[in-house]
Amino acid sequence: MGVQVREVAAAETAELRRRVLRAGRPVALPGDADPAFHVGVYDGELLLGTGNVRVDPAPWAPSDPAWRLRGMATHPEHRGRGVGALVLDALLAHARGHGGGVLWCNARTPAQAFYERAGLVARGEPWEDPELGPHVVMWRTL
Ligand SMILES: CC(C)(COP(=O)(O)OP(=O)(O)OC[C@H]1O[C@@H](n2cnc3c(N)ncnc32)[C@H](O)[C@@H]1OP(=O)(O)O)[C@@H](O)C(=O)NCCC(=O)NCCS
Repeated sequence: MGVQVREVAAAETAELRRRVLRAGRPVALPGDADPAFHVGVYDGELLLGTGNVRVDPAPWAPSDPAWRLRGMATHPEHRGRGVGALVLDALLAHARGHGGGVLWCNARTPAQAFYERAGLVARGEPWEDPELGPHVVMWRTL
């Protein structure tokens, strides 16, 4: 695929994240005010996919080095073609290169198999977010 993977500002990816993760609702996206490393996969000017990581301890190990993964979103017409994997690889590489530790996220259960492909495992029981549906914590060592 002739695409570019690069670091981007949060604002560049907010529209895609709102569309994919918030049904286009004009809400403030959680975490965007904090420092984070955002990645975009572009085909020319078109943003195909995005995700971000930030230093944030896992809830079960507050003193250990850890990165939280958020905002994974691939354009609906470009799924299943490796875009999400490119985003996740770039985020893993960044986290490994900046201290490592573990990577964790609150995964939507429909995306659980995607994260398992990347070596994450579920931890604890799934729960229902009243607005966003079922989630489960997932994590892996970096
Ligand atoms: C989850 C998401 C980001 C994956 O992006 P994507 O670009 O479609 O993923 P990829 O094409 O890179 O898939 C990588 C691998 O995971 C698999 N995969 C992707 N989504 C999957 C799913 N929902 N269930 C099972 N496997 C999946 C792919 O088949 C591929 O496997 P392969 O390595 O054997 O080819 C995308 O489906 C999406 O935006 N979903 C809606 C938003 C969402 O739920 N985000 C996650 C919030 S926690």
